[in-house]
Amino acid sequence: MEQLAWWQKTIVYEAYPKSFLDTEGAGTGTLQGIIQKLDYLASLGVGAIWLTPVYCSPMKDNGYDIANYYDIDPRFGTMDDMDQLIAEAEKRNIRIVMDLVMNHTSDENPWFIESSSSKESEKSNWYIWQDAKEDGSEPTNWRGVFGGSTWTWCESRRQYYYHTFAEFQPDLNWECEEMRRELYRMARFWLDKGLGGFRIDAVVYIKKRPFEDAVPDTPDSMADITLLGSNIPGILDFLNEFKHEVMDGYDAFTVAEANGVKPEELPDWVGDTGVFDMLFEFNHMDVAMGKNGAWYKPARWKLPDLTSALTASQTATAQNGWYPIYFENHDQARAVSQFFPRAVNTTAASKMFGCVLMTLRGTPFLYQGEELGYLNVAWSSIDCYDDVSSYNQYDLALQAGKTEEQALACVHLHSRDNARTPMQWDASENAGFTTGTPWLPIHDDYQTCNVEVQSTNPNSVLEWYRSLAQLREDLPVLIEGDYEELLPGDEHIYAFSRTNGSEKAVILANFAERFVPYDTTLAEGLTVALSTHGNHTPGSLQPFEAVIWRN
Ligand code: NOJ
Repeated sequence: MEQLAWWQKTIVYEAYPKSFLDTEGAGTGTLQGIIQKLDYLASLGVGAIWLTPVYCSPMKDNGYDIANYYDIDPRFGTMDDMDQLIAEAEKRNIRIVMDLVMNHTSDENPWFIESSSSKESEKSNWYIWQDAKEDGSEPTNWRGVFGGSTWTWCESRRQYYYHTFAEFQPDLNWECEEMRRELYRMARFWLDKGLGGFRIDAVVYIKKRPFEDAVPDTPDSMADITLLGSNIPGILDFLNEFKHEVMDGYDAFTVAEANGVKPEELPDWVGDTGVFDMLFEFNHMDVAMGKNGAWYKPARWKLPDLTSALTASQTATAQNGWYPIYFENHDQARAVSQFFPRAVNTTAASKMFGCVLMTLRGTPFLYQGEELGYLNVAWSSIDCYDDVSSYNQYDLALQAGKTEEQALACVHLHSRDNARTPMQWDASENAGFTTGTPWLPIHDDYQTCNVEVQSTNPNSVLEWYRSLAQLREDLPVLIEGDYEELLPGDEHIYAFSRTNGSEKAVILANFAERFVPYDTTLAEGLTVALSTHGNHTPGSLQPFEAVIWRN
């Protein structure tokens, strides 16, 4: 096997800086907070930390609305703090990965302010402007990712500007070469600081399709931009240019948020022949969403829906490219709450997910709080929520004829704020996250679910993750081995092997909250390396039990 790169052998931890640790008492996390907890992250075997955006921003979408790419938002700290973070992390063999948002900026970005000032401005062409239809309405009937039209009227230009996401996130015009060059310069500015890589936001949307009406998909007479507007032919020309102008020559990886790339297109997108090192896919996560547009309903899913999606990704990246494994991130509700809303033993379910996360072939992306077994929150009113898309979810559910109570239940299930509540460090007030008022309420389980308590309990989710990280160090087959699914179509057990020459590991994860028998020949000749329940009985898996065997 070809020599693996450092980022293929490590674990990436996604930090949501706003909710990580506040060192200022302002109620929002800081870069100094992350610096303080680097030893904690090192104890999880983490070799890279992906920070969601920390650039200057009005924070209407928590940093995914950038007002100045060249500086750190004062709420998080200063450029010196960032330099210190990179240096302190490096001392612990940890690289810092930044979020690169190149599809859009904030409407408060001076580039947009200039572009919107007049058609003659120097940056006139840096964003996407279109005249109204003859009747004055929007140029197309497209619905944005966060709901509503993709077009907003601008009085100073007497034109509409285009936005894939919220109206405060105008899309950059990638057809404008001057604009692209500026983005590349900006990206190199950060790489020169010694970053370990970039997570690239919403990149499938950078190339636009012709601005024409599309067939509406619902009674609101609009057509969904997520289906219409991604991976438009010509996008790879931009991305290849980005790769050569920005990434070539740096020891840094790219992982792109790239929904909708088909398996047969992967060679253009990842690996030696493609533009990125890894792609985040959505297929396995969509399993837990309501089907046929009824996303607001709890999904009726079966294990083969999930395992076949995972196996498809494992197979697609077996020869070319590399797979970023994840079950949680800042855009998802907590995995256990999403997949098992009725689970009783949620600790066991969290450990079981952790086992799969850390033993599939690829780089595990562990999201803040996942290592503690965080669950969703359920606040009593929509007003308690902060996330722009949760308000859209709530409105959509109301439009679909749901009552306010039912609409709130959808938000409970799917809100991105579920993943954004502050880190729980100890049982003190505000879970040790802040001495001020936290920007988002702390989960009310913080007295029992926190780093301090779990560090002293050998059976905790946190200690389980530490054991898994250690096992990845001890068992190279978990990093290098080929993947094979062992019981495709099984409705309870996800079983797979990892094999590298004579080295072998077998993983069985019971996705049912009841005892499930299994055929012991699956692990014949192997010994148990780790088991979620500590006392594995051959031939039967306990509710949510996961076991790793090795030779
Ligand atoms: C994807 C990011 O992960 C999400 O948090 C953000 O709202 C959108 N892109 C827009 O940037």
